[in-house]
Amino acid sequence: MPDRRPYIAGNWKMHKTGAEAEDFLWALLPRISGEDRAEVVVCAPFTALSNLVDGSRGSRVKVAAQNMHQAEQGAFTGEVSAAMLSHLDVRAAVLGHSERRQYFNETDEALAEKLPVALTAGIEPIFCVGESEAEREAGQMEDVLRRQVTAGLSKVAAADLPTVVIAYEPIWAIGTGKVATTEQAQEAIAFIRSLVAGIEAGAAEAVRILYGGSVKPDNAAELLSQPDIDGALIGGASLDPADFAALVAAGDAA
Ligand code: 13P
Repeated sequence: MPDRRPYIAGNWKMHKTGAEAEDFLWALLPRISGEDRAEVVVCAPFTALSNLVDGSRGSRVKVAAQNMHQAEQGAFTGEVSAAMLSHLDVRAAVLGHSERRQYFNETDEALAEKLPVALTAGIEPIFCVGESEAEREAGQMEDVLRRQVTAGLSKVAAADLPTVVIAYEPIWAIGTGKVATTEQAQEAIAFIRSLVAGIEAGAAEAVRILYGGSVKPDNAAELLSQPDIDGALIGGASLDPADFAALVAAGDAA
């Protein structure tokens, strides 16, 4: 099995101004300077991105956005393009987070466009999928994941597939404190890996698949010990520099 580099990403959602982002970095960087095994990513609001890019230069922190529009430019009020992000030296973007699917009408069709556009611009997609509680209870988890993964990856060139980072975030575990059991997370992520194998056999062993949903310093190590769980996408616990540093340490040890 290839050694997939652990990936620890904090998704701040709608938290922190630019100044607060700088304070966070000041507290975080000295705490994570010892090792360099895990990749460390902070997914911040657009308004804090340049503060983070400037403050993290020369460090192990990679800066990510939380969304991106698929068009090159145009009459799309309130949106931000891939080129706008890459010109800021932003290196990744969360695409298809369930909150965007749920509250902002993000569709599988738009995501099919967004992923290749991001990759062409040198933006690493952190592509989110996951079922709701009702879907899981109705036995539809695999159908939902198959639909989301197949659609989102449908226009990604085979050679680019290993560069995509996929995050499995069951909606019922987000912000609820109801973490999926390690078995549930491992099972869903292994299933997602099998879906990638169905698209391009060679990519499945290389692609990194994260778990997200109520990940905390005290449950991260167990989740990361699973064979198919390559990292974590962390909401609430990523807002505190000491907690996030502990999560990075769990990634370094994985
Ligand atoms: P929590 O870690 O707060 O449950 O959020 C998970 C998430 O949505 C990360 O994208």
